[in-house]
Amino acid sequence: DKGNYRHFMVKEIHEQPEVVAHTLAHYLDLVNGSAKLPAGIDFAAIDRLSITACGTAFFAGFVAKYWFERYARLPVDIDIASEFRYREQPLSKNGLSIVISQSGETADTLASLRYAKGEGQKIAAVVNVRESTIAREADFVLPTLAGPEIGVASTKAFTAQLSVLAATAVAAGKARGVLSGDEEQALVRALSEVPRLMHEALKLDAQIEALARDLAKVKHCLYLGRGTSYPIALEGALKLKEISYIHAEGYAAGELKHGPIALIDEDMPVVVIAPYDHIFEKTVSNMQEVAARGGRIILITDRKGAEAAAMDTMATIILPEMPSSVTALVYTIPVQLLAYHTAVFMGTDVDQPRNLAKSVTVE
Ligand code: F6R
Repeated sequence: DKGNYRHFMVKEIHEQPEVVAHTLAHYLDLVNGSAKLPAGIDFAAIDRLSITACGTAFFAGFVAKYWFERYARLPVDIDIASEFRYREQPLSKNGLSIVISQSGETADTLASLRYAKGEGQKIAAVVNVRESTIAREADFVLPTLAGPEIGVASTKAFTAQLSVLAATAVAAGKARGVLSGDEEQALVRALSEVPRLMHEALKLDAQIEALARDLAKVKHCLYLGRGTSYPIALEGALKLKEISYIHAEGYAAGELKHGPIALIDEDMPVVVIAPYDHIFEKTVSNMQEVAARGGRIILITDRKGAEAAAMDTMATIILPEMPSSVTALVYTIPVQLLAYHTAVFMGTDVDQPRNLAKSVTVE
């Protein structure tokens, strides 16, 4: 049931504050300001993580790499399942494999799970469908509590995956003696603010819809980000291409000058995902390179970032200020809305994009 919404996708986008709050409540102890360790996983004994998934779930894993490395000092290999399963890479004896899948049935992800298991790895599965094959075959199940996701383009399952992974990275950091009690509390507090911040982000809907009217006229679009905003740039580009059929690419902002800058002109807008953080200045210089070549910028930032950038943009989308540990969760909302409204203007079948299936059980 779509309720008052025109599509399942936009309904699911708007469900995210609730879904994230519900999922986080399962993984955080808000009274004590701590993250719960998933039963049975001994992070102190693990020396390497390998994270494997496909599509949007892969981008959730990509964000989690930054979190596990920073908060738990755990080296993380992140891989697309269709590559992981055939590459025959050596896996650490004390390694843990995390597979991420909304459906729990994706063929390549399941094959990766079986490969890792065969190599003696313990498997933790972040899944939305509890009765799925991947959940059944994993040693540890970390459920996302997103409820059924109907829109083919994944939205609430993605932020639910990020919620589980963020809480687990914090728990791992504490278990490994990397985070102090105070640091853990601060990270948990920041996570607990995410549903409210998402509500604020959803209020930008009308501004983003107006912008989408212009975006619907372009043939190509580039997304840039640094740090955890880099996987969000990849996710933003995937969302736009899969539902609006506009060609979009996500790049690490620092890679701009290594090739994609050759594409910049007034016909290719550049969406820059840049919260005001420790690497903001670096991203500003990439934006200046774009502007100097006549590129039009859609800047997604906060008030401090907008002031510091002081640039003419096609649009500046201003989110509340927040700790950099949670920007990936909140900045996802405007990129989802931008893709959604652009697709609506294009007149595509938003919930059932051509050539795509919700559950990819073939290779
Ligand atoms: C994109 C999308 C896909 C899925 C991918 C993995 O919006 O939905 O990229 O994320 O097919 O699916 P699951 O998570 O079911 O393994």
